[in-house]
Amino acid sequence: MNSGELIDIAHRYVKESLSEAEGGHDWWHVYRVWKMAARIADSEPVDRKVVELAALLHDIADPKFHDGDESIGPNTAYSFLSEQAVSPEIIDHVVQIIRYMSFKNRSEVPSFNSLEMQVVQDADKLDAIGAIGIARVFSFGGFKGNPIHDPNMKPRLSMTKSEYKKSNGSSINHFYEKLLLLKDMMHTSTGREIAQSRHDFMQLYLDQFFREFEGEQ
Ligand code: ADP
Ligand code: NI
Repeated sequence: MNSGELIDIAHRYVKESLSEAEGGHDWWHVYRVWKMAARIADSEPVDRKVVELAALLHDIADPKFHDGDESIGPNTAYSFLSEQAVSPEIIDHVVQIIRYMSFKNRSEVPSFNSLEMQVVQDADKLDAIGAIGIARVFSFGGFKGNPIHDPNMKPRLSMTKSEYKKSNGSSINHFYEKLLLLKDMMHTSTGREIAQSRHDFMQLYLDQFFREFEGEQ
């Protein structure tokens, strides 16, 4: 099987698996991350097959929807890849990326790293900011029943992993707790450049939001 066929099978498998997924983490999130990862990979000396497979499989089973089980995603990816004609080295690399790349694991000692992982991480983070990021925040906040904005709730800037997982703050606070921090966490120069422009767009959006909130605009 050539690389294109494998990517095609993975594409169809993930699309089918995520057909019931919630808005912010649906197939189209994966599609955007996949396209962006491929774009970033164009300027990096990476194994493109690893990048594309990891991007396609990175949200195959979100722990948030599996009782917090963080092994189910990597395990599902492993099972899928083992059924294809993929070398053990590639399977291992892709599974490691999926295991270690989540934002929620950032405070843990990174026991795995690779340029391929950084490319997929950048692409995933880019999908949390800019116009798409804004749509996802309010979609996720609505799904959780969180307020859009409450001036009495202050952003929590140093949350533990378990506080972050409760995700019970306002959607506007989520910009300050996570989204506006992402541009400084990019690994690649392409990622940094795109992040900056998406960051500026969010800042513009927030300025307008607060003016409208006080009836000034
Ligand atoms: P990732 O997909 O990188 O693992 P998360 O699962 O933490 O990220 O978040 C998925 C999407 O939901 C992101 O776009 C993120 O901004 C949004 N989100 C996460 N937590 C909250 C929250 N507490 N309030 C609003 N949006 C959130
Ligand atoms: Ni993702």
